[in-house]
Amino acid sequence: MIVRCQTELTETVFYLFLSFQACMFIFGEHLTLLMSIFRRKSIERITQDAANDQGHSVGLNKVLGKWDLTFMGIAAIIGAGSFSSMGTACASGGPGVVVLFVICGIACGFTALCYSEFASRIPVSGSAYTYAYASFGEMIAWVIGWALLLEYSIGNIYVAFSWSDYFTNLLENFHLHMPDWMTISYAEAKKTLADSAEAKAAWKNAPMLGSLRLIFDFPALLINFLITWLVYVGVKESRNISNVMVFIKLIVVLMVILVGAFYIDPANWFPKSEIGEGHSFMPNGFSGVMAGVASVFFAYIGFDAVSTMAEESKDPQRDLPKGMIYSLVICTVIYILLSLVLTGMVNYKSLNVGDPLAEVFSLHHVGWMGFFISICAVAAMTSVILVFQLGQPRIWMTMSRDGLLPKKFQTIHPKHKTPSFATIVTGLVVGVPILFTERNFVLDFTSIGTLFAFVLVCGGVLLLPRKEKIAGKFHLPHIDSQLIFPALVIGAFSVAYFVFPGYFQDLVDFSKPKENLTFQISSIIFWIILPILAVFAVLKKWSLIPLLGLSTCLYLLTGMSAPNWFWFVVWFGIGLVIYFLYGYKRSRLALEEKSLDRMN
Ligand code: ALA
Repeated sequence: MIVRCQTELTETVFYLFLSFQACMFIFGEHLTLLMSIFRRKSIERITQDAANDQGHSVGLNKVLGKWDLTFMGIAAIIGAGSFSSMGTACASGGPGVVVLFVICGIACGFTALCYSEFASRIPVSGSAYTYAYASFGEMIAWVIGWALLLEYSIGNIYVAFSWSDYFTNLLENFHLHMPDWMTISYAEAKKTLADSAEAKAAWKNAPMLGSLRLIFDFPALLINFLITWLVYVGVKESRNISNVMVFIKLIVVLMVILVGAFYIDPANWFPKSEIGEGHSFMPNGFSGVMAGVASVFFAYIGFDAVSTMAEESKDPQRDLPKGMIYSLVICTVIYILLSLVLTGMVNYKSLNVGDPLAEVFSLHHVGWMGFFISICAVAAMTSVILVFQLGQPRIWMTMSRDGLLPKKFQTIHPKHKTPSFATIVTGLVVGVPILFTERNFVLDFTSIGTLFAFVLVCGGVLLLPRKEKIAGKFHLPHIDSQLIFPALVIGAFSVAYFVFPGYFQDLVDFSKPKENLTFQISSIIFWIILPILAVFAVLKKWSLIPLLGLSTCLYLLTGMSAPNWFWFVVWFGIGLVIYFLYGYKRSRLALEEKSLDRMN
């Protein structure tokens, strides 16, 4: 019997080997081609190429110091997330949304450290795109560049819509009223026609162009145009304006926290539970809190945009990490305080509005604060649009240097020293969809794309070789995860099992009709990935910080809804098609490989 089994096993292995050989013979060439999508650029090569390219053309202006970068970080972080989308997150999670701010702050903190490690090794404008090229290879790098388009350009569409809301509110304070059909996008007016007075008025009064109603968000288009122009004329000008706006927004946000603190009623922190008896900090449970992930995470996005300024920084290897980390820490503290104040001032249900900061004061009849908040919101969101609009063209410029985008994207304006063509294209990519998209769609889309980029940046750091510490340059401390990470994973499983009885049973119970099937499936995948990561941590002695960044970002991805995933996969597919039609053949590495082949 044993001998028969052994014979069968040997035969099976033999046939498997034969099949493998046959496949290699038939598809060998294609397999080699397939492998080339993982062609990587070494760190030395990336920095060398960037230096050569700058030497051949007009270089960017190196004017940004440590505090400029920190201010740029704050400029990009505090914006529509805190002034608009925080309201919906509070309304679903209740006061417990503070926990989500802490989780997102931790996830972004680990990620910022990983970005810093990359930025200090590769001080080149492409941000996560460049980092992925060095660690995962060309195709993933392209995918990241494609995902960053979601963060910077699509994210800006949401911010421009929110900017428009606050700007029109501000005008109302001066008794200036713009027609409703000029302050809402067509898609939003159509979607909210049944329950929004503004949408109804826009629909009714819009001028007609043939059979088409002329409804568009004029202030959103205007701010996009003005910022594109500012970014086009120079980074110094952009920095000065951004610094002023950051100053204004910090003052007003601190005022909201201080003045708001006087109106806190601690009873609001423990409202009536909607899913059980009594009162609770999380009235809709933890899943209610997690439902706000896209909104809360959106509020944190932006610190990474600092890394796109590498070639405009005086000392990028030292200052970029500081800029990212300082800005993130400052904003995390502000967000935690702000969410505590908002949910303490009123019942969380009243926060389901587009302008929650103004709303809490109007509910307490402190009208004068509304005016300050509108000014601050306009300044805050202008600075977000500005930094994102600065970031996007610089990523495209780097992708174009690698041959993944047409050469035109590398054009640097001889006088302004900015990537002029890429800046104009960015303006169009933000401006055109303003005409036909709607805000919640772009918010979710931005958050999932950015989280995906963060996952790959943290994963990329795990693949980097160790380096010597160089004085004056940022160095991510290597904490061996061999023991700590498995212990943390066991701890996470134990907490989930013992502290939340029935948690795992619920996750794998597909018999009941579930509203949040996507959450269930993505959570199962998350809990399967965790022990796998722990095994790798033991075998590969991975560094703890990127591993924690990777795990927390993966956890946040479990909060994304089914439509988020659907559109993200569609976006991903379109990106891959473009890569295979264009970049795959034209990339600098591909062309070099070809010429090497010819020489051989
Ligand atoms: N974090 C930025 C904002 O909230 C994107 O507007």
